[in-house]
Amino acid sequence: METSRPQAGKTILNTMDATRLMRQENDRYAMESGRSRRAFVLTFGCQQNEADSEKIAGMAQAMGYGIADAPEQADLIVVNTCAVREHAEKRALSTVGQYKHLKAQNPELVIAMCGCMVSQEHRAEEIKRRYPYVNFIFGTSMLQSFPCLLWEWTSTHRRVFRAGAEETAVAEGLPIRRENGYRAWVSIMYGCNNFCSYCIVPYVRGRERSREPEPILEEIRSLVAAGYRDITLLGQNVNSYGKGTKAGWDFADLLAEADKIQGDYVLRFMTSHPKDAGKKLIDVMAASTHIAHQFHLPLQSGSDAVLKKMNRRYTTETYTQTLDYLREKMPDVTVTSDIIVGFPGESEEDFEATLKMIDRARFDMIFSFIYSPRKGTPAAEMENQVPADVTHTRFDRLLARQNVIGLEKNTELIGKTLRVLCDGESKNDSLTISGRTEGNKLVFWQGDTADRGKFVRVKITGAEPFALQGEPAED
Ligand code: 5AD
Ligand code: SF4
Repeated sequence: METSRPQAGKTILNTMDATRLMRQENDRYAMESGRSRRAFVLTFGCQQNEADSEKIAGMAQAMGYGIADAPEQADLIVVNTCAVREHAEKRALSTVGQYKHLKAQNPELVIAMCGCMVSQEHRAEEIKRRYPYVNFIFGTSMLQSFPCLLWEWTSTHRRVFRAGAEETAVAEGLPIRRENGYRAWVSIMYGCNNFCSYCIVPYVRGRERSREPEPILEEIRSLVAAGYRDITLLGQNVNSYGKGTKAGWDFADLLAEADKIQGDYVLRFMTSHPKDAGKKLIDVMAASTHIAHQFHLPLQSGSDAVLKKMNRRYTTETYTQTLDYLREKMPDVTVTSDIIVGFPGESEEDFEATLKMIDRARFDMIFSFIYSPRKGTPAAEMENQVPADVTHTRFDRLLARQNVIGLEKNTELIGKTLRVLCDGESKNDSLTISGRTEGNKLVFWQGDTADRGKFVRVKITGAEPFALQGEPAED
């Protein structure tokens, strides 16, 4: 049905006004056409992006959109992009490329892009030129402007490009449509000040901004009251939480206070920077009731020379001290890490130092990445980029080593009974149920799908490098 275009909007002052105007427009459309418009949000990248997408979906709902399960059913598509490696950028661009035919079939379809990739000027330019059917983009710091930009496009049909990663104040009170009814993300800070030499994040997410503690605690309280069982506090570097806040708390203070909230839940956090993961934080964790004995502590490299070039500002020695203290205070702690293979100038000797650290650290799991040069970062300009074949061989050697360690670590759990948060039906053929331990390890067992969202006690009977098998415990 042909619908008349809304009045060209005067300058929209705030998110609430734009949300109201879009809602009126969508209600009018629903009245005239007999169907409600629907939005589809696609997410690439990390948990921070997943958390942002839940806010985008929440704002879309507040503007009167239903939520579509597939892009073909949508009147509005928002692609939330990642820039941390080239692969993620290529996937986002090729996905948007596929939407061209949807736009041809339905010229009223609105396509927006946001997130880290589009916060880079050169990518924003590329989208402007090569993807003319993308109607508007907004950078990471402009999440709350989504309704304003959507209204601007809807009322003027002029493409809107707001790429910048400027540091706007943290927006409180945005609606959130959570994907899961018992696991939740809570963003506590945005941006990063560390400028690791390989990393694009500080350029696309801007400087660190922390939320005040009270709204964070209030969000956790309401999640616990609503029955959420697993709550993850999110930030690029949670250990430096609190700078610039009125309350002046640090991350350990925030955790200690959050832990006082009564209820049956587990609290976790990511990501930590080894240079800032201090004893105070570890002591708070060890003494807590609700904080999971789990720590993601990205090592990146086991060579001090490479760590220096990465601008990580710790050494393998200080890293090991932190690890030892963690295990001394919490012998059952699960420790995971990130490793980059093939950083510029990484020699065979450097790589072997990483293998040695892997043996020493005995991580439960690692996330390993092949170094990807990011335009605008210092490492992309460094000499001695490692050839792809060398990097790939090293990557395989690293994985082979970690697989052995992961299996050994998981085998140690056989015979133990663990509290596991059940995720319901599994994709594993023989075992019907999957869930996650307090250490965030994946477990499969034969059980009841009705336990989804509940804590159950599972006796571990088998181990693989990346997962455990078990059976319902009898106690
Ligand atoms: N190339 C490869 N891996 C990277 N990471 C960040 N930037 C890059 C890059 N340019 C990895 C780091 C980080 C994780 C989230 O992604 O290991 O901890
Ligand atoms: Fe990137 Fe380093 Fe900041 Fe992590 S701490 S987001 S790796 S710059």
